[in-house]
Amino acid sequence: MTDKYCVFGNPISHSKSPIIHAAFARQTGQDIEYRAILAPTDGFADAVDAFIAEGGKGANVTLPFKQEAFQLATRLTLRAEQAGAVNTLVFNDNEVVGDNTDGVGLLRDIMINLRYPIKGKRVLLLGAGGASRGVVGPLLGELPESLTIANRTVPRARSLAEHFASVGPVTGCGYDELAGRVFDIVINATSASLSGTMPPLPEGIFAPGSLAYKMMYGMGDTPFSTFARAQGVGLFSEGLGMLLEQAAESFFLWRGIRPNCAPVAELLQTKA
Ligand code: ATR
Repeated sequence: MTDKYCVFGNPISHSKSPIIHAAFARQTGQDIEYRAILAPTDGFADAVDAFIAEGGKGANVTLPFKQEAFQLATRLTLRAEQAGAVNTLVFNDNEVVGDNTDGVGLLRDIMINLRYPIKGKRVLLLGAGGASRGVVGPLLGELPESLTIANRTVPRARSLAEHFASVGPVTGCGYDELAGRVFDIVINATSASLSGTMPPLPEGIFAPGSLAYKMMYGMGDTPFSTFARAQGVGLFSEGLGMLLEQAAESFFLWRGIRPNCAPVAELLQTKA
């Protein structure tokens, strides 16, 4: 019987995960089915139960359910535990394993694909929700000079920074506190682009040769990309690499085989 996988989210129609995993399955000769499931915002656990009941073997979890998936898992990997958020579920006979592949996906794309080192860099992370939580620990593991988390709701940024204070040099602040500061890497982990907006960033935050990275792929030009380019950022990434790398890591967890992301990147770009 074909093994079943899915991605849960709300909204979910924009998700590229079904195309990506179908391409990974073709490339590696794995017989799987992967579909997108729109879960009601108050019905995530029920949607997971229903999918397990029909024989589901694993799932990805996206906005806004990553923290709920963390609560729901009966066993957590170390990186999920540290993130406090889960983007990958594995359904074994008597347990639901929660993992988080976002951090490793982001690091692989920035450091290997884009060849941009993080060590010694001033990093700014925009947003303090589930997407941010997954990448703070892995970013600090690469020994940046500093990691600043800025968020609209300032206490959220401060408490996220406090949670990781023992891991590395991380602080939380509001957007107005960024005035006059300069960063080498600016990562947008907010969901602002879903509503066609961006966080209120001051001018002049991009150092010469800096990298701006959008963690939510698939919206084309957004106010953030337009702003970063107008401000003279050195390199801008739409986040396709992270999307593929985190998916490849999930696929590896489920199937024990690691797909090659490069041909799938080409496929998505020709479809876009
Ligand atoms: P996710 O799991 O994707 O991170 P989330 O937990 O709902 O989703 O978090 C969304 C993030 O985007 C938050 O940091 C949110 O800021 P608040 O904590 O202040 O709500 C941020 N965000 C969403 N819309 C935004 C906007 N228009 N401007 C600035 N930040 C925004």
